[in-house]
Amino acid sequence: MLAVVHSSPQKNGNLERMVVRTAEATGYDYRLIRLADLKIGACNGCIRCAHGKRCVQQDDMAPLYNELESAVGLIMGGVNYNGRVNATAHLFLERLYPLYHRNPAFRDKPAAVVAVGGEAPDPAASDIIEYLRDIYFFRIIGTALFTSDNPPCLTCGYGATCPVGIPALHWTREDCEALKHGHGSRFRCFENDPETARACERLGTTLRKSIG
Ligand SMILES: Cc1cc2nc3c(=O)[nH]c(=O)nc-3n(C[C@H](O)[C@H](O)[C@H](O)COP(=O)(O)O)c2cc1C
Repeated sequence: MLAVVHSSPQKNGNLERMVVRTAEATGYDYRLIRLADLKIGACNGCIRCAHGKRCVQQDDMAPLYNELESAVGLIMGGVNYNGRVNATAHLFLERLYPLYHRNPAFRDKPAAVVAVGGEAPDPAASDIIEYLRDIYFFRIIGTALFTSDNPPCLTCGYGATCPVGIPALHWTREDCEALKHGHGSRFRCFENDPETARACERLGTTLRKSIG
């Protein structure tokens, strides 16, 4: 079984559809874990997980330890919020700590990383990669990234009129005008971008080969 974890609160958003596309391409059975549906608290720093390799907190992270330990590989997806991976992903990554001590459960386990950003998916991807690889010894086998052109400023109501919004700061005057007139052309779906769709499929195939 493959573990497929993502941190977007958007059900069936670009990120969720991308991790699913990647998982399907592996040919493995998988379980989709939507972190935003779970109650996962921050590490309380007690380090009692060093003995027994489980967290003392009985929240929604508790049942995931066995599942992640026995998974043949991981697909992890994250979104860029404020120039880094969102807090939902961070909490999950922090709470993997019980599986780290002495004989790390994830050493050399293959992991594929998927990320979406309104303007830049890269910071979310690199935060996840550094965490998985440098702390938990996962073997990162590749990434699939997508720029959705869907900043929060498209839904907040102020749009291009907000002086610190992404449209005012980074878009052309024409794109801002189009936004004022309710143009939806900037809402992008990864399926309409053949290169991103192919990247997900390639990532899934590479993951399958890495699992062997
Ligand atoms: C609070 C918040 C902050 C955001 N900050 C950034 C940002 O700094 N850079 C960026 O590229 N996108 C940013 N975004 C846009 C999200 O990355 C974007 O909406 C993404 O497409 C969400 O993917 P999803 O539909 O799969 O959940 C932000 C979105 C929210 C809600």
